[in-house]
Amino acid sequence: MLIPSPKWLRGDDIAASEITPREVFESRRRLLMMAAAGAAGATMSPWLMRQAHAAQAHGAKLAAKPNTAYAITEKVTPYEDATTYNNFYEFGTDKSDPARYAGTLRPRPWQVSVEGLVKQPKVYDIDELLKLAPLEERVYRMRCVEGWSMVIPWVGYSLSELIRRVEPQPGAKFVQFITLADKKQMPGIGSSVLEWPYSEGLRMDEAMHPLALLTFGLYGEVLPNQNGAPVRMVLPWKYGFKSAKSIVKIRFVDKQPPTSWNLAAPSEYGFYSNVNPDVDHPRWSQATERRIGEDKGSGGFAALFAPKRKTLPFNGYGQQVASLYAGMDLKKFF
Ligand code: MTE
Repeated sequence: MLIPSPKWLRGDDIAASEITPREVFESRRRLLMMAAAGAAGATMSPWLMRQAHAAQAHGAKLAAKPNTAYAITEKVTPYEDATTYNNFYEFGTDKSDPARYAGTLRPRPWQVSVEGLVKQPKVYDIDELLKLAPLEERVYRMRCVEGWSMVIPWVGYSLSELIRRVEPQPGAKFVQFITLADKKQMPGIGSSVLEWPYSEGLRMDEAMHPLALLTFGLYGEVLPNQNGAPVRMVLPWKYGFKSAKSIVKIRFVDKQPPTSWNLAAPSEYGFYSNVNPDVDHPRWSQATERRIGEDKGSGGFAALFAPKRKTLPFNGYGQQVASLYAGMDLKKFF
């Protein structure tokens, strides 16, 4: 990732971290949008802009059965933070850019091509994909490689449900996720910060792991554009950048596929990118993290003043996934 800029010096990155009851939140919408409109062109606080966009962002409800097998006791991150403090470089590199600019993304109509080394390749319409398997709500701990974390209730089903249906051929060893790259919808595509389309990948056994979630929603609603509408991956034991957003192709291949961040900085972002407190990023430690939304007592600056928490191996999912990497040198295969 880019080196986080010291926004706190400019005082323009204040997070809205309180949990706001829905009815209070809804009644604030008009006020925020009026304030945002009134201040357009003037020195508008990004915090206010983020609030305004979050207020707009509530999408259609998406019913799902809670899957308690993955329940964690940690407090869920406020919706406002999870939907306004994002990385989605197709819309800009600032954390507030996706909420601000992703309104141009059109998540319908949308198709996902499942292709490559499978016996049943198919182009799925998004609404068919959505109904392929029962939707579950799973509360996952998420850890970004930049050192912040969140707890988010996602809605989706295990990617393995899709993989089984398309019947991979024996030669399929990896799965590649390719995401939308459309200049008309995505203003950040003009930048050369990454190679587009954004691409990610998993080894087949990782992709088949039940934790790997093909995700259509969060907080009981369809995904807001800034969080990767209409469909994305969520891989809670890996750094956030492995979880590709706004997917248009899922390709089964025989060799490890190229991935955007690994191409951009191979010494910093490996293919596996499992959360590992013992393997530092070359420019910073990964031993601790700050939980977005835990900074209330100290002034509300997004993550910067939240107390440090110890980062857990595999982000706390070691019991479930460590066996996938048995015998591997995780310092080499970072
Ligand atoms: N997917 C696409 N297409 N483009 C991106 O820039 N950023 C990644 C990942 N998926 C990214 C992406 C990074 S760095 C992170 S931390 C997560 O999305 C953030 O997901 P969130 O905004 O839902 O927290």
